[in-house]
Amino acid sequence: MIVCVCKSVSDRTIRSSIADGIDSFDELQFELGVASCCGKCEESVRDVMLQSGVCASRCGVGIDHQHVQSVAQVAQVSFYERKAA
Ligand code: FES
Repeated sequence: MIVCVCKSVSDRTIRSSIADGIDSFDELQFELGVASCCGKCEESVRDVMLQSGVCASRCGVGIDHQHVQSVAQVAQVSFYERKAA
């Protein structure tokens, strides 16, 4: 299935790149051009990353339970709460 229409990148290509060692969104963006045109595919690319065992945040860390919890905790804190801290 095509994930990025602008650059004609499929989920298969993204999974293959991850299998070849790409472990961050930024690298996928650089190597494949995903989310570099209209940007509407970013969430879908991150979903494929998550399904492939790579963190969907920008950190590029492989998934483990503790990491997922820490990312979820950061996501629950609002912008203003982070600014105030
Ligand atoms: S659909 Fe991926 S950049 Fe437009």
